[in-house]
Amino acid sequence: LSRDVTDAYDRWAASYDSDRNRTRDLDGRVLREAGLPVAGARVLELGCGTGRNTTWLADHAAHVVALDGSEGMLARAREALAERPVTFVHQDLLAPWPVAEGSVDLVLVDLVLEHVEALAGVFSAAAGALRPGGVLHVCELHPYAQLAGRGANFTTAAGEVRVPVFLHHVSDYVNPAIAAGFHLRRLGEWWVDEAEPAPRLLSLWFQR
Ligand SMILES: C[S@@+](CC[C@H](N)C(=O)[O-])C[C@H]1O[C@@H](n2cnc3c(N)ncnc32)[C@H](O)[C@@H]1O
Repeated sequence: LSRDVTDAYDRWAASYDSDRNRTRDLDGRVLREAGLPVAGARVLELGCGTGRNTTWLADHAAHVVALDGSEGMLARAREALAERPVTFVHQDLLAPWPVAEGSVDLVLVDLVLEHVEALAGVFSAAAGALRPGGVLHVCELHPYAQLAGRGANFTTAAGEVRVPVFLHHVSDYVNPAIAAGFHLRRLGEWWVDEAEPAPRLLSLWFQR
């Protein structure tokens, strides 16, 4: 996890939830409407950020472990979710996770993997954390949107900050997931509005 990414998110944390961000809003809808088995589940959220989705997860899950590499983002999440059944951990997703083998029912990743160059490690760690039959749901910027120049960015008084990103094609997600033992159950492509020619988000529902 590069310092450039964590520094950028530490700076973005104060305005991440209030900035106009149609990608973030669409992701929130995709996650909530996916029909995932969240009720009563032991959930692991990768890259929870300010806890925008964690709040909804905590309303339904038995318990949530939420990992993020930015202290600034985590501080917001901890504040928003005090007294909730959530364990927040400051954690680089590229380092070994503090999660027991097979102890989780559901792993969620939203708008994080554009910052991770090689995805195989994340998929194999997710497979290790999940019990057999457990679900991994990924929702990320669609490669068409990345190719159109989109990527995590925010504006400060000094101008636009673009967080470092890597382009991932659909096969970059699907093949390492299959190699880690996952089955692809559903693939979704999501538009922010009909005026855009290409989907903004890609969602992938995998089962272990
Ligand atoms: C765009 S935010 C998304 C946050 C949240 N999932 C959401 O949808 O609002 C991306 C988050 O991923 C985290 N992140 C990116 N790369 C990471 C890594 N290698 N390890 C841990 N966290 C990482 C950042 O710190 C940031 O909080």
